[in-house]
Amino acid sequence: MKPIISPSLLSANFIDLRSDIEMINKSEADWLHLDVMDGVFVPNISFGFPVIEAVSKVCTKPLDVHFMIVHPEQYIEQTAKAGAMMMNVHYEACTHLHRTIQQIHAAGMKAGVTLNPSTPVCVLEDIICDVDMVLLMSVNPGFGGQQFIENTIGKLARLRQLIKSSGSKALIEIDGGVQAETAPRLIEAGADILVSGSYVFKSKDPLATIHGLKTL
Ligand code: DX5
Ligand code: ZN
Repeated sequence: MKPIISPSLLSANFIDLRSDIEMINKSEADWLHLDVMDGVFVPNISFGFPVIEAVSKVCTKPLDVHFMIVHPEQYIEQTAKAGAMMMNVHYEACTHLHRTIQQIHAAGMKAGVTLNPSTPVCVLEDIICDVDMVLLMSVNPGFGGQQFIENTIGKLARLRQLIKSSGSKALIEIDGGVQAETAPRLIEAGADILVSGSYVFKSKDPLATIHGLKTL
């Protein structure tokens, strides 16, 4: 099975986003990953709805939106209206995760739950059958270009096991430090979707880099 590739716009050229999105449209990327940060849940601020809406008008690939914010439940309708296909919320940011997942579905989007590197897979036991995707952070969220955390490989195997034993259909997405060396090991360990920011957008030939990830 070929992995789903979701390049992260965080490492794109913000002065000329249109060119980078047109490159994504032409590429073998399956989705486009958008990182929303609020400076509270993570120690960085990225972009919000005006950018998501603008990107949605030009991008032909489904938008995979990753909210690194407190109270993501307050923005579900706005996210759907902005054109997101997938809304990922952090487990650590949701007091009533089950309700939030239901509301994301009611708004017509796929629902993903995201775990920080220090949050164990076992916390998903009672929600795994309700989500469409689990996003495992393989770096501490907030910045592109960080080093991959090795513990993710074992964690991915534990998540694969939980999905199998529960009968869940959730896909597994990995985000952070995905590049030539880590990507094949992640596929081998059972990842369905790879997010890749700096490795794609900072490469000399992003189209070829995406092709390389797609044909691992
Ligand atoms: C980090 C973001 C990532 C980021 C990944 O908090 O969630 O999506 O863009 O960047 P790389 O692939 O450079 O680690
Ligand atoms: Zn992300």
